[in-house]
Amino acid sequence: VPLVVPDFSPALLLLLCPLWDVSQSLPVTGKGPMTDSCVFYAKTLLSNITDVLTQNQLFTGIDCTKQNVELNMNTNTASVCAPGDSTCSGFTPSQFSQELCLTNIGEDLRYYYQFLAAQPDPDSFLGPTVLLSLKELMENCFSWSLPADSALKKASADHPSTYDERLSLCKVLKGFHVRTITINRAIGFIHSGEDTN
Ligand SMILES: *[C@@H]1O[C@H](CO)[C@@H](O)[C@H](O)[C@H]1NC(C)=O
Repeated sequence: VPLVVPDFSPALLLLLCPLWDVSQSLPVTGKGPMTDSCVFYAKTLLSNITDVLTQNQLFTGIDCTKQNVELNMNTNTASVCAPGDSTCSGFTPSQFSQELCLTNIGEDLRYYYQFLAAQPDPDSFLGPTVLLSLKELMENCFSWSLPADSALKKASADHPSTYDERLSLCKVLKGFHVRTITINRAIGFIHSGEDTN
């Protein structure tokens, strides 16, 4: 049964589509610039995010496991990187568009980079882990270069985080985790198409 959701709210979509980001299968073929090392960088990023979510010192005073997942809703990665017959996408493209998928992923990565680089990180939980692997993925696979090294320096700002900053970091990191699972699937799929060309 097709659902018409004119101005679909994230909350509604998540309600209608549990595990919306992670449960979709991808189409069988693809082609593109995703190399072995892109697959590796994406896996490293996922593993570093998973790891950083277990660093309780980042979330002092907060049980991060009990917080909501806050997804980046400025992109359509989950739907444009999904197969055309997906019933849980905001729209239903008849065909997988690799370009659109990669564009959305690139925007996600930039969004998360900017967010994370602006977080206080006096104990360097983020800088040498998530931020570094994120930067490598962006630079090597999304032809993105850091404007200056200012963003990385900012990441090591030494003021302690406030409660609200920690709460927001927890929710956003959980969203980034879910989105990075989707990104890994998409990059793996595009990479697999490359091999068969
Ligand atoms: C990031 O993840 C990779 C892959 O699991 C791991 O080898 C590396 O040590 C991690 N980096 C840090 C700083 O935890």
